[in-house]
Amino acid sequence: MYQDFFGFREMPFNITPNPRFLFLSPTHQEALQHLRYGIEQKKGFIALTGEVGCGKTTLCRQLLNELDPERYETALIVNPRLSEEQLLSAILTELGWAGSVTGKNDLIQELNLLLLGRIKEGKDIVLVIDEAHNLEFEVMEQLRLLSNLETDDQKLLQIILMGQPELRDNLMEERLRQLRERILVYYELKPLNRYETRMYVQHRLSLVGSMGRPRFTNWAFRALYRGSHGIPRRINNICDKALLSAFIRSTDLVSYHDIRRAVKDIDRLR
Ligand SMILES: Nc1ncnc2c1ncn2[C@@H]1O[C@H](COP(=O)(O)OP(=O)(O)O)[C@@H](O)[C@H]1O
Ligand SMILES: [Mg+2]
Repeated sequence: MYQDFFGFREMPFNITPNPRFLFLSPTHQEALQHLRYGIEQKKGFIALTGEVGCGKTTLCRQLLNELDPERYETALIVNPRLSEEQLLSAILTELGWAGSVTGKNDLIQELNLLLLGRIKEGKDIVLVIDEAHNLEFEVMEQLRLLSNLETDDQKLLQIILMGQPELRDNLMEERLRQLRERILVYYELKPLNRYETRMYVQHRLSLVGSMGRPRFTNWAFRALYRGSHGIPRRINNICDKALLSAFIRSTDLVSYHDIRRAVKDIDRLR
């Protein structure tokens, strides 16, 4: 496809949340700093929200890669449409537990024992829940109870909730007041601005070995920003299609029309 034509080592606009492609815009940088701070300072609950495609999962991967495995034990839950029991056993499984206990109370007991064991080994435990806007109220409440597990001098678990803006709305509900009050670190990821959108595209192109090819016209960049609203996933989808149409025309120049056509195609599919 266009990969060879432009001389790329790999496809620049894949939509996998690969941290190797991480572009640290100011908002992504700040988000990451909030997460690192929350974990280092053992703030208990941390929340990160942002629109679909803003880069939450990518940041989460980056964070988990950064954490020193000698010091941190991590558990990542990516599909939180779970019951309380399913959540507990998913956390246990993530932490390498191979028991067969069922029932909420027994699972909590197991988790408590396992966490205490890990703390004794000198580990900090970080639980990350992606797509946390999908958590049922009861499961949120269970998480709050888990965050109560503690030794005399420290909490056993750091919990990071990541999700779409509905997560924030959910947390504002009166019945989640107690959980909300535990969230000492909160950050809302923003879309990229016009300039950052341009930098983002250039960053991804340079990572795949683009030697200045293809070039985007200024009008193309403007249309890209307008069509994507600065949301990385949309930028990727639009650029992928626009590069394809430049390739089909055998040109190095991505034009306003290439971008507009791509935006229309994508909007039709939405
Ligand atoms: N800061 C970033 N740097 C590089 N790529 C990013 C960045 N943010 C998002 N992306 C890309 O955008 C797409 C969507 O990101 P993702 O992390 O899945 O968003 P979310 O989890 O918020 O829906 C992925 O292809 C990802 O690689
Ligand atoms: Mg995600």
